[in-house]
Amino acid sequence: MKKSALSRHGINRFLKPLGLELQRTYSSSHGGSGEALTEPPSLDPIWPLPRPTGGPSDDQIRGVFEKHDTLLYPYRFEGGLAFLDAHRELGPRIAGDPDYFAKRFRHFMPYVVASQGGSLEGKRVLDIACSAGYWSIQCALLGAEVVAFEARPEQIELANFVKTVVGLNNVEFSVLDFWDMTPERLGGKFDIVLNLGILYHLAKPIEALERTMAMARSHVLLDTAVYPANGPLLFLQWDDPDDIRMAADAGVAALPSKEAVEMMLKHVKAKDWSEIPVTSNAPDRYLNHEQASWLISV
Ligand SMILES: C[S@@+](CC[C@H](N)C(=O)[O-])C[C@H]1O[C@@H](n2cnc3c(N)ncnc32)[C@H](O)[C@@H]1O
Repeated sequence: MKKSALSRHGINRFLKPLGLELQRTYSSSHGGSGEALTEPPSLDPIWPLPRPTGGPSDDQIRGVFEKHDTLLYPYRFEGGLAFLDAHRELGPRIAGDPDYFAKRFRHFMPYVVASQGGSLEGKRVLDIACSAGYWSIQCALLGAEVVAFEARPEQIELANFVKTVVGLNNVEFSVLDFWDMTPERLGGKFDIVLNLGILYHLAKPIEALERTMAMARSHVLLDTAVYPANGPLLFLQWDDPDDIRMAADAGVAALPSKEAVEMMLKHVKAKDWSEIPVTSNAPDRYLNHEQASWLISV
């Protein structure tokens, strides 16, 4: 088939010598109030993680981390003990960027904190599908009362160990499947619910958003991979559980486009929502329109 002379690549052939480039953008049908979020004060993760005296020794910590074939989070502790996010077969850095989680933190956590009046001190936070607890631990260090769950028992075991190393008593981890999540089971509703990196591993995104919102009394932070296209699309893919980042059970997972996320938020009657603005410091996935985050009022 003959390529259109007006394709982006075609136009860029002429623009390149001038130092210009035509970029693809994907539209986002902003719903809710339509108001842009006010830029909050910047915030850094607490990193490396504090390690009060009297906790597990270096050898004990190494022993626990070495039991894991794959690490999602590149945990680092005060005193120099550090572990790469790695897969024994796939190699180091499964997230592809050593600063990925710090950049992701700086991208949306300032908005989470601002939504709660500028502090998480004493706020009830739910971390859905928490893996080995990076976000829960950060929120607990910011003073929140955190409840977190995850389907993979070995990730919860590691999260509990990190909790011990850091010396926290304001975070509770448990093994639970997303579809078994209810306010009754988790001690009531939460000021803020973190739905991070899980929506696109589930087959029923509308029901998943409804259930997530039912856990919140104030806000939800939704962070999800998105299908990079215009239009309200759900792209179906098969998720196999052989990677710790994937669905806990094999099955269909629905990857939404940005417009699909916003249409679904309208459908589930979210009070308001705004996409978190992407700055040049965000991880590449956000800059490349492969991932996006929304602050949602319920
Ligand atoms: C891409 S990781 C995201 C981890 C973390 N929320 C983050 O954003 O850094 C997806 C996580 O969801 C968990 N998960 C997958 N299906 C689940 C389910 N049905 N119930 C609970 N957790 C699930 C996986 O085990 C994995 O830890």
